[in-house]
Amino acid sequence: SRTVKLAVVAGDGIGTEVVEQGLKVLDVALAGTDVTVATTELDLGARRWHATGETLTDADLATVREHDAILLGAIGDPGVPSGVLERGLLLRLRFELDHYVNLRPAKLFPGVRSPLAEPGEVDFVVVREGTEGPYVGNGGAIRVGTPHEVANEVSVNTAFGVERVVRDAFARAAARPRKHLTLVHKHNVLVHAGHLWRRTVEAVNAEFPEVTTDYLHVDAATIFMTTKPSRFDVIVTDNLFGDILTDQAAAITGGIGLAASGNINPDRTAPSMFEPVHGSAPDIAGQGKADPTATVLSVSMLLEHLGLAEAATRVETAVAADLAERGDRVRSTAEVGTELAARVAG
Ligand code: IPM
Ligand code: MN
Repeated sequence: SRTVKLAVVAGDGIGTEVVEQGLKVLDVALAGTDVTVATTELDLGARRWHATGETLTDADLATVREHDAILLGAIGDPGVPSGVLERGLLLRLRFELDHYVNLRPAKLFPGVRSPLAEPGEVDFVVVREGTEGPYVGNGGAIRVGTPHEVANEVSVNTAFGVERVVRDAFARAAARPRKHLTLVHKHNVLVHAGHLWRRTVEAVNAEFPEVTTDYLHVDAATIFMTTKPSRFDVIVTDNLFGDILTDQAAAITGGIGLAASGNINPDRTAPSMFEPVHGSAPDIAGQGKADPTATVLSVSMLLEHLGLAEAATRVETAVAADLAERGDRVRSTAEVGTELAARVAG
């Protein structure tokens, strides 16, 4: 038998509501296997910050590291200045735990209505770089608040960082039926970083000759994502382009209520973190109407990452079956979670 140590950061707003359902489904998915989950609830997020001024201490990080994986709901509320929890908590976790693959599947499940009139088959995955780009905080401002203010955010792209995420994306493409990888960047303008990415894709392609590749500037990629999303199989891109494209990808596949993600450390030197793409949604928090489906799909990704592929598939299959039948039925957060758990139980 095996015990999985799971750190749970339920967070704020609807985060706590959806995580409760995610854990419910996780329990059911592992019932009858020899795997048990031992959860540690971590008090991180807006509530803690208001109470103590702390975002993520070194001690918190040390605790997190003792776990096999992290399940995160959502963090933040309107009372916290923009950037404090994003940089101090969420991004700090991604950077410190070396989550260099931010994996965001975009799949239009049968029964889910896309805002696109003719979406076709949408089933791609975005491999968003997670530790570099304009997210690293390499920048600064002078003469702030004056007409002569200068504000810089430098996008950091290292050969090491680009190569490792590109290799991961190739491996994922190689394991998929279509074996196609699209690099998205903007190398006609961002020539330094863009050409590093382009050269890296060319070089790593030699290790995966079975994978076909193409390239799109990010602006063109947004057009194709609207006009012909079926053309995508695996997309690899930098941290900021990936952030933007994955919100668009969520929008065309049923909205962020369904969008799951994994912040993955493929080398397993630290725990990976699974979270719905959506935020804490203070406007609907506490009303029991958040859709926990994105969290449940994130739980499926978590199971997959832990090597529990059979349980992962059962969870995804349960979600697919529920989506096929849900139509316009209005259910509470707990009802959706309970029904999904029942489907997983079979
Ligand atoms: C996401 C979010 C975060 C990001 C924010 C909250 C820092 O938008 O997970 O996509 O930009 O990565
Ligand atoms: Mn985002």
